[in-house]
Amino acid sequence: MDHNSDSLADLTPRPKPHVDRCICHEVPFQDILDWAADRGETTLADIEDQWGCGGSCGMCRPYLKQVLETGESRIPLMIEAS
Ligand code: FES
Repeated sequence: MDHNSDSLADLTPRPKPHVDRCICHEVPFQDILDWAADRGETTLADIEDQWGCGGSCGMCRPYLKQVLETGESRIPLMIEAS
């Protein structure tokens, strides 16, 4: 085994994982932003009513909150420390 190449591979920066959609409903966050742009204020409840997002497993809810707060459609992966 070539340990030198393994060490170099470990030093190569890896892209940071992002979340860009509700997996359960297969809805990209950009689609939600585009829809929300034509509205007044949009809440998580509005998104759930319209798209279903956040109402199934709920894992996208903190990301949707960030999407609404930042206007960004790609949110860095949130890892809960326990
Ligand atoms: S990922 Fe959005 S409800 Fe499950």
